[in-house]
Amino acid sequence: MAKKISEKVTWVGKTDWDLRHFHGDELSTHHGSSYNSYLIRDKKVALLDTVWLPYDHEFVDRLKEEIDLDKIDYIVMNHNEVDHSGALPELLRHRPGIPIYCTKKGEAILRGQYHQDWNFVNVKTGDTLTLGDTTLTFIEAPMLHWPDTMFCHLSGEDILFSNDGFGQHLASGSLFDDQIDNDILFAEAEKYYVNILNPFNAMVAKKVKQIIDMNLPIKMICPSHGVIWRDKPNAIIEKYQLWSAGGQADQVTIIYDTMWKSTEKMATAIADGIRAKLPDTKVVVVCASEADKNDILVEVSRSKAILVGSPTINNGISYAIAGLLEMMKGLKFKGKKAAAFGSYGWSGEGVKQISAALSAAGMEIVNDGMKALWVPDNDVLAQCRDFGGVFAETIA
Ligand code: FEO
Repeated sequence: MAKKISEKVTWVGKTDWDLRHFHGDELSTHHGSSYNSYLIRDKKVALLDTVWLPYDHEFVDRLKEEIDLDKIDYIVMNHNEVDHSGALPELLRHRPGIPIYCTKKGEAILRGQYHQDWNFVNVKTGDTLTLGDTTLTFIEAPMLHWPDTMFCHLSGEDILFSNDGFGQHLASGSLFDDQIDNDILFAEAEKYYVNILNPFNAMVAKKVKQIIDMNLPIKMICPSHGVIWRDKPNAIIEKYQLWSAGGQADQVTIIYDTMWKSTEKMATAIADGIRAKLPDTKVVVVCASEADKNDILVEVSRSKAILVGSPTINNGISYAIAGLLEMMKGLKFKGKKAAAFGSYGWSGEGVKQISAALSAAGMEIVNDGMKALWVPDNDVLAQCRDFGGVFAETIA
């Protein structure tokens, strides 16, 4: 159902309560999501972004209840991934020829996805579209998180439409940040940042600085997923400054997988060794095959050092650990120390493979890792505690 969010702007998006996976299975969405579309009604009428393809008919039908589609003058596409552009073909079926404002890259992506010769109008940073008393100013934001991405600012209403930036996968009956649990809100915003925007930290930092330097009045930040920042727009901007700078807590995360608990026993003993040396440091111990992969990656992001352990399986490592290492490489974490560990029965090359993968993921490997043959006894567990203590000294 459409909801008015300011004098001239109405939310006309889709709340997806049941969504639990996004980007295939790349990203878990424990709290669902939303695809936010906004209708600006001034002397001219603009529609900003649409919704994901499965909801295209529902979106257009509801939009028709809100406005005569012939009264919409412009479509603005801030980003053209299918979760925002999916309803365009259905909408354009009703309004062929309507101008679509987007970046040049946005046009290429729309043409590549939908193979239609629509009425594209390319815009760049600083270009404007006057709607009446209000004006949209376009701000390109390439690689936040696709090459086509842009933000736009609505003067008069003082709203920044930021598409995926500042978004959260969070379905809510309320539209605003002051109407929902802020612990969940900021946790989902951080999870979104780490798992989607982290590879582009440098570009995020530059874009946030540019927006601050532009001195745009911003009463609200309206992202394309989750709730609108009207109470804490500055707080989420500050979080983006922190996250894009790779800000770390005094935390070590130990990630392991285990078949018969040997590697798990090692993980626990290594954690004890770190805690004995660094009692004030937070030590998180997490099983890769039990916990959510994207939540684990948030813990990695917060940590100044990580340890990764797997038993050697079929001359390799567990698939859960292998998958996480691959994701860590893609997310391009920086400035973290790391080491590997794991149990084995005969060949035992898993630790070496983990060290190599951690190095390929940009981690600073601080030692050769630790292996334990079969089930670690008390002597070996003491060695694990010592190993943890020595690792702790490298980050003290
Ligand atoms: Fe929400 Fe990049 O699409």
